[in-house]
Amino acid sequence: MPSARAINFAIVGCGGITLQNHLPGLALCPDVKVVALCDSDAATLERARQQTGVTITSTRHEDIVRREDVHAVIIATPNFTHAPIALDAITHGKHVLCEKPLALNHADAQAMADAAKRAGVRHMTAFTYRFVPAMRYLAHLVQRGDLGAPYHFRSCRLQDWGTRRVGWRQVKKLAGTGELGDMLSHRIDFAHLLVGPMKRLVANLKQWHPVRGGQPNELDDWVTILADFQNGATGVLESSKLASGRNESWRSLDYVELNGSERSFVFITGDWNKLQTGKVGGPGFETIEIPREFWKLPGSARDAGAGDPLVTFRYDQAWEFVDAIRSGRPCAPSFHDGARALAVMDAAVKSAETGQWIEL
Ligand SMILES: NC(=O)c1ccc[n+]([C@@H]2O[C@H](COP(=O)([O-])OP(=O)(O)OC[C@H]3O[C@@H](n4cnc5c(N)ncnc54)[C@H](O)[C@@H]3O)[C@@H](O)[C@H]2O)c1
Repeated sequence: MPSARAINFAIVGCGGITLQNHLPGLALCPDVKVVALCDSDAATLERARQQTGVTITSTRHEDIVRREDVHAVIIATPNFTHAPIALDAITHGKHVLCEKPLALNHADAQAMADAAKRAGVRHMTAFTYRFVPAMRYLAHLVQRGDLGAPYHFRSCRLQDWGTRRVGWRQVKKLAGTGELGDMLSHRIDFAHLLVGPMKRLVANLKQWHPVRGGQPNELDDWVTILADFQNGATGVLESSKLASGRNESWRSLDYVELNGSERSFVFITGDWNKLQTGKVGGPGFETIEIPREFWKLPGSARDAGAGDPLVTFRYDQAWEFVDAIRSGRPCAPSFHDGARALAVMDAAVKSAETGQWIEL
């Protein structure tokens, strides 16, 4: 007999991020079962079926997200498919965890958030880097007031992808934007989490390589945003696929610095259990350890000491979704967070096209 708290999941999109993150994350959640899989590519779907033993499969998302025995859906497909699949799942009463960027533009993302709210289902955007223990502790310290009044937000994401093919990520109608949606979207979410809403911005997007791996590349390799926040703080955000020699993996630089009236903090994803901080007028920065209670989300069954911590923090994302479904509380981050990141992304594209400051 399945328990009354059992949650049945369907996953749409069985590519990279589902195998690396969603499946192992769900496997750690008690009374959760993946019952159905969808991938539009038959060979990818068959590989996932063999790997998971899940027997209900389809290449059409409609066959999977509308099933009565499915309670919750994870959408891990290329960006252009997120909105139609999510709206279909929401219409059929399913809770939805959707990959970032939530949609191709703010209007579509807002429609997803509105539909989920009307339907009363749980909704979550996969801003996975919020679950780095050091980021969770930093957000806690900022909310507690340790930063004081925020002066500056500074974020730098530097990777070396060279000229290699990046598949659907280099096609405008499939991805929407390049480096902006792929990498900077997470850092826009950091800015919202740590400082608050932006007021206006000016941005630039640049493409160096019109061909990647022999295929046309239509999208940006580099992006930067200069922003004013509503609370008066300033922001500088930069992200590049062409920081030669820095490596391509998540071990490459992901840096956030916050300067406030009381002190400063530096977060680096690679230093998952440390922050640097310095007090105003003090001698310089010192390193502080992240308390153990922040090493994983409360209630998560994950062993915070097991595995590579730069991989395993991501599994807490599934627990956040499952716990929110069970307790009927909002997910953090929600579709609202995904939609407000897209408002910033739309403004960045408009600014880059017009050379103007854009009000948000
Ligand atoms: N949160 C994170 O840290 C993170 C990391 C990587 C990727 N992502 C996001 O996850 C999504 C998927 O990225 P990925 O790297 O796994 O890509 P991927 O190309 O490895 O996998 C996507 C899969 O979706 C399938 N697909 C395409 N259209 C479909 C449709 N209409 N219905 C069903 N399946 C379909 C493809 O066949 C493919 O197997 C993207 O939105 C990406 O931005 C997020």
